Amino acid sequence: MSEKQENKQISRRQFLRNAGIVVGGTAVGSTFILSACGNGDEVTKTVTVTTATPKFVSPFDGQEFDSLSALEAYITENYLDQDIVTVNKYISPYDGAEFDSLDALKAHLDENYMTPSGETGVVSFVVNGKPVTVKVKDNWDLAYVLRDRLGLFATKIGCNFGQCGTCTVLIDGVPVFACVTLAIECSGKNIETADGLTNGTTLSPLQQKFYDLEGFQCGFCTPGFIMAGKALLAENPNPSLDEVREAVAGHLCACGNIHRTVSTIAGGV
Ligand code: FES
Ligand code: FES
Repeated sequence: MSEKQENKQISRRQFLRNAGIVVGGTAVGSTFILSACGNGDEVTKTVTVTTATPKFVSPFDGQEFDSLSALEAYITENYLDQDIVTVNKYISPYDGAEFDSLDALKAHLDENYMTPSGETGVVSFVVNGKPVTVKVKDNWDLAYVLRDRLGLFATKIGCNFGQCGTCTVLIDGVPVFACVTLAIECSGKNIETADGLTNGTTLSPLQQKFYDLEGFQCGFCTPGFIMAGKALLAENPNPSLDEVREAVAGHLCACGNIHRTVSTIAGGV
C-alpha cells in the first residue's frame, strides 16, 4: 500500500496527531494538549481551561444564588418591598439628645454649643446695610457665617483656602476673601455681599453688564469677580484691561472664562 493510500485510512485522531495536534478530554474543565515539532524536537504546551459555575451574591446578606433572576427575586422580596419608615426624631450630633422638632434641636444646639466662649462668641456688624448680631465660634470664618448663619448664599465657597477669590466680599469697601477672614474680626465693619447688589428684581449696573455681555459661563465664580469689580470701579470707573487683570489677579475661573469676565468689568472692550 502506498503512503498516500495509508493516509486515506487513518483515523481523525491519528490525523490530528500526525498534524502535530493531540486533543485529550472532552468535558468542560479538561486539559487540551497541543503538540508541535520544531528543530526535530517535540515541544508540548499544556493549556488548562477552567469554567466555574457563576454565583450571584446578595449585597445585603451574602446569600448565594445560581441565577441573576433568583437573586433579583430574593432582593425584591426581602429588601425592596419594605415599607418606608418615617423617623420623627431629631438627634443632636454632639450628645445624642433627642427632640421632637427641628426647632427644639436648634434651640438645644444654640444654647449648648453655639457660644462656647461667652461674650466673645457674639459679633455685630452691618451686612448690606442692615445691622446684624450673630453668635459665632471664635474659629468660624466669615463665608460660613454669611451663608450658613445668615442665609446670604450669593457668596460662594470654592477652594475654602484663600486661593480662588470665589468668596470675595467687601469689608469697608475693600475686597477680602471671606473664607480666610474670621467672623469675629468683623465686629463693627460694613460688609457688602453680592446679595445686596440687586434692588428687588433690578440688577446693579455691573450685574447688568455681566448679563448683557455674557460675562459669565457657569456663573459660580461670578459673585466674587463682581464684588472685586465693584471695588475697582468705585475707584476707577474706566479701568483698562490690565488694570482689571491686576484687580482680579487672585481670582480663578474654572470655566476658563477669564478673558470675557475681565473685558466685561472693563466695559466690554
Ligand atoms: S473660597 Fe475663598 S478664596 Fe477660594
Ligand atoms: S464662569 Fe464657571 S467658574 Fe467661572
